[in-house]
Amino acid sequence: MAIQWFPGHMHLTRKAIAERIAEIDVVIELLDARLPGSSANPMLAELTGHKPGVKVLNKQDLADPERTALWLAHYNAQPATRAIGLDASQAAPARQLIEACRQLAPQRGSMAKPMRVLICGIPNVGKSTLINTLVGTRKAKTGDEAGVTKLEQRIVLADGFYLWDTPGMLWPRIIVAQSGYNLAASGAVGRNAFDEELVALELLGYLKQHYAALLEARFRLDAVAGLGDEEVLEAIGRQRGALLGKGRVNLQKAAEIVMNEFRSGSLGRITLETPEEFEQWLAAGQLL
Ligand code: G4P
Repeated sequence: MAIQWFPGHMHLTRKAIAERIAEIDVVIELLDARLPGSSANPMLAELTGHKPGVKVLNKQDLADPERTALWLAHYNAQPATRAIGLDASQAAPARQLIEACRQLAPQRGSMAKPMRVLICGIPNVGKSTLINTLVGTRKAKTGDEAGVTKLEQRIVLADGFYLWDTPGMLWPRIIVAQSGYNLAASGAVGRNAFDEELVALELLGYLKQHYAALLEARFRLDAVAGLGDEEVLEAIGRQRGALLGKGRVNLQKAAEIVMNEFRSGSLGRITLETPEEFEQWLAAGQLL
């Protein structure tokens, strides 16, 4: 599917990382727990010179817990990597992040040798929410009125613990076809950059196969497995009164309903890819 990425974005991300990386101890990559493989920057390891990394599966409250466990195991098996699941708005779990960084760089974290962390992630993955939560934690802990010290984008999270933010950007290359659909479904891509009906159909195709019961319950449908993707979209449109004249279904409106309900979690806790599936998509080499 054609998604209008903007190639300039990758250059900004690359520049922001290149400017800082020499003095960074740990790289945090924020991933969307509903699409960890697709929301990961495929060039990050190379861009960061293979520095130790924390993979944060954010929005885990919206993701399928069984699949989150698979992804955490997958990342934790990688060298110099720690993976944690988070809901960025919750303060206590966010503190796990600081602990994971300390484990990866135990020699850092003092006033003399501060921990220097870089945080990256695609748009809408929850980076601002997480930073606000972490800053709030410090505020509560220290009573520091300023709460956040910003100097050249440096945020002081705790004594001897500094965080640098990078622009929340998507990368234009090395994205498998299915990743384009999953990123669009998640809300990481501006809505003018893709065809909503196509994305909703792809999403329904996957949900029919893996989360049929959730789909049937939410939209009061019967036996979706026996229906084509377009039939499911039409049935949802009818069920929700998204109609044009003469009883025709407004498929565009129905597509918006499907995507909004997936994004908000109203459909249930759903993950659009497993580590195994993602490997297969990569191997199939369906590059955009
Ligand atoms: P960004 O800086 O990476 O672009 O993302 P941001 O923090 O702005 O978060 C994007 C949206 O995702 C926000 O919702 C935010 O509340 C939501 N979000 C972030 N982390 C989590 C999480 O762990 N779980 C859930 N369920 N949602 C999360 P929004 O609808 O755009 O704004 P609002 O509802 O907060 O006003």
